[in-house]
Amino acid sequence: MSDGWVTVCKTGDVGREDLIQVEVGDTTLIVVHTKDGRMCALASECTHGRANLADGFVHGSTIECPKHNGRFDAITGAPRATPARIALEVFETQVMGGDVQVRLQGQSSHGRREA
Ligand code: FES
Repeated sequence: MSDGWVTVCKTGDVGREDLIQVEVGDTTLIVVHTKDGRMCALASECTHGRANLADGFVHGSTIECPKHNGRFDAITGAPRATPARIALEVFETQVMGGDVQVRLQGQSSHGRREA
C-alpha cells in the first residue's frame, strides 16, 4: 500500500458486466467491471433505499439496484434511472499488475462525504 492505495481484489475476480463487494477497513464498496473493461469502485449502499448494490446488476457501465431498479453510472456515480436521484460515492480506482486498487482519500466530487 502506498499513497493510500489499497488492493481490494484481482481483475480476474470480477467478470465483465459484473460486480463484487469488498471491504476496505470498515467501508463496504462494490467493484464494478464495465462492459468496456473499466474497473470502478463505488459505495455499496443505494442512495435511494439503502439496498446493497452488491446484489444488483451491471448493464454496460450502469449499475441497477436490486430493490427498485434505480440505476447509477458506474464511472461517475450519477443517477441514471429513477427512483435513484442522489449520486453514489465514487472512489479512485487503478489497476496495477492485475491488482485492483482503491484509494478512499481524494474521492471524486460525486457524492463526496463531508467531515
Ligand atoms: S433501494 Fe435502490 S432504487 Fe430503491
